[in-house]
Amino acid sequence: MVSKRLPTRPKIVVEPPGPRARSIVARDRNVIMQSFKRWYPLVVERAEDYLVYDVDGNRYIDLNAGIAVLNVGSLNRHVVQAIKSQLEKFIHYSLTDFYYEEAVKLAELLLDKSPFRGRGRAFFTNSGAESIEAAIKVARYYTRRPYMIAFMGAFHGRSMGALSLTASKPVHRRGFAPLLPGVLHVPYPYPYRCPFPANSPEECGEAVIGFIEDWVFSRLVSPDEVAAIVFEPILGEGGYVVPPDNFLPLLEKLARKNGILMVVDEVQTGFCRTGRFLAVEHWGVRPDLIAVAKALAGGLPLGALIGDADVMSLPAGAHATTFGGNPVAASAAIAVIEVIEERKLCENAYKLGSMVLDRLKEAMESGEAPLIGDVRGKGLMIGIELVRDQRTKEPAVEELERILVRLFKRGYLVIGAGASTIRISPPLTIPEEALNGAVEAIIEEIRREAYKMG
Ligand SMILES: Cc1ncc(COP(=O)(O)O)c(C=O)c1O
Repeated sequence: MVSKRLPTRPKIVVEPPGPRARSIVARDRNVIMQSFKRWYPLVVERAEDYLVYDVDGNRYIDLNAGIAVLNVGSLNRHVVQAIKSQLEKFIHYSLTDFYYEEAVKLAELLLDKSPFRGRGRAFFTNSGAESIEAAIKVARYYTRRPYMIAFMGAFHGRSMGALSLTASKPVHRRGFAPLLPGVLHVPYPYPYRCPFPANSPEECGEAVIGFIEDWVFSRLVSPDEVAAIVFEPILGEGGYVVPPDNFLPLLEKLARKNGILMVVDEVQTGFCRTGRFLAVEHWGVRPDLIAVAKALAGGLPLGALIGDADVMSLPAGAHATTFGGNPVAASAAIAVIEVIEERKLCENAYKLGSMVLDRLKEAMESGEAPLIGDVRGKGLMIGIELVRDQRTKEPAVEELERILVRLFKRGYLVIGAGASTIRISPPLTIPEEALNGAVEAIIEEIRREAYKMG
């Protein structure tokens, strides 16, 4: 079949939000708990690959991928076909009590692409937070140790266990204490804003490891009481922060020395988002447990925790969830992995991402877009941190909001992360031309905002 060529530019026919969008937003306010932070009033009617159409007929270029979910694009034909044929067979029959091949096949495929190949086990969930909940239980049960280390800046979800590990914005936790006891937060090595004095990113990485060893393990808890270190290989919601290259290998060494499990949260970074199937592959570390979700099933709700068989050893009845590993979602996920391989989406993300990073760094260094304080990322997970003043690094919070709204009105869908970072996370199928146009629009809007400041 000849694939049709899709447009690479947005098309705005009515200034968004148009009348139909405004009416749906008003109805939403009346019936849906407003606990979300929405950046602008996009009301989606349909989507195709890297294009999104709103209810008033506007066409947008998608740089969000439904928040790092639509890695193979919207309505990928192979994924849709897999869903349709599963719908003709059966939609649900709880893996908790029975068996079906779709879940087994997906587990085989996933484990095959992980460090646990040949000796791993998977547990299926319905979301990222649930994958983290499973990780907490498995780590505690396996080690029989009470404490966990997590990082400031990290986001692991909002259910009570996952929230106890999350520390990216106070609003996530405010009013919900007491949370799970035994979680110790330590600073994340954030090279642009290193929490310790450091002359290089590597010194920042070493300082964080030193802090855990010299302060946490020497003054707070004995390392033999720590079950797990839970980390994002690149901070997502916390600002698209890439750690220094020495950090994860040093963290692995520290964990191994003390018999602590390495639990990596690949919920946002997985499935080629960063140019590798899993982001940890960039640093050659081998975690004990890996949590995934988001892009796994191409938009259907599905998550997983995977690990070595001896660690993933909860006894019968100890953990289960009715919908986890749903056969329709599992069939979609099998198709997602096939599409990723067939279209070489890891390589594509890496190639396109390097191009975007080069262009953004040029814009930062030339002073073309003076609000840019830092540009960082891997593959198509790219952050542009905006600051009011290059010296004080004061976050440009309101400026970020205005820039995102103006981009929306021009037909580019992009949101923020951390205090003042633009997060670029498009479908990995986006054509170069559409991506380049979007990046130029972002640079223009940053420049416009900077000139308004004078
Ligand atoms: C790194 C990471 N972990 C966990 C979660 C939670 O996933 P979910 O929203 O599916 O519960 C998210 C969601 O954004 C995430 O980015």
